[in-house]
Amino acid sequence: MDIKSAKITFRNTPRPGDGKIVRRIMKSTGFFEAVFDELDSAEANAEAIAGNPKSEEKLLFIEVGGVEEGFAIFGRESCCDATVYMSWLCVNNSLRGMGLGKRLMAEVLRQSWENNARKLILQTSGRPQYEPTRAFYQKLGFSKEAEIADYYTDGESTFFYTIYNPQYLAKKLKK
Ligand SMILES: CC(C)(COP(=O)(O)OP(=O)(O)OC[C@H]1O[C@@H](n2cnc3c(N)ncnc32)[C@H](O)[C@@H]1OP(=O)(O)O)[C@@H](O)C(=O)NCCC(=O)NCCS
Repeated sequence: MDIKSAKITFRNTPRPGDGKIVRRIMKSTGFFEAVFDELDSAEANAEAIAGNPKSEEKLLFIEVGGVEEGFAIFGRESCCDATVYMSWLCVNNSLRGMGLGKRLMAEVLRQSWENNARKLILQTSGRPQYEPTRAFYQKLGFSKEAEIADYYTDGESTFFYTIYNPQYLAKKLKK
């Protein structure tokens, strides 16, 4: 697929059946079944959002030529006034490394800051397979704020990456 000539769009309105799309995109990468099967959980998460118009969580797709090729799930963290937690992010394997993840993440941040979020946080795995994922977040300006050992399973840590709303950060630094 020639990404440069294709029309790139975003879809923020979830539909019934989106769970299957989420499953297709995730399955293409091989990342989410390597240790545990995470596909059922993500599919159920997407369907729950699609079935609840008042959902606090958002499901955002990036489409290439009208076809969903990546998605993110994110929303206000409960018990926090202005923190967003992103629970899933994935780009179709055949289109990885072509800038779609960066565009998707930019849209997630745009929507979060528009909603006056102070900070976005996410978790990712410390296992070697996720080295490119961690490099991706660092390239985009995320900070690694914490690592918790033996989190997912014995020997597999979780990394917490965070990024501030630049407007909030500017005000904070002025104080
Ligand atoms: C992580 C993921 C969403 C990134 O999306 P992507 O479309 O592949 O990434 P992009 O092509 O938009 O890359 C964006 C930037 O990150 C950089 N980057 C990506 N992978 C990198 C790597 N391995 N090392 C260094 N930089 C990297 C790119 O160079 C690019 O920077 P540039 O625009 O200055 O060139 C995607 O690869 C993916 O779905 N991976 C598998 C599943 C996964 O890990 N999901 C996240 C779970 S927490």
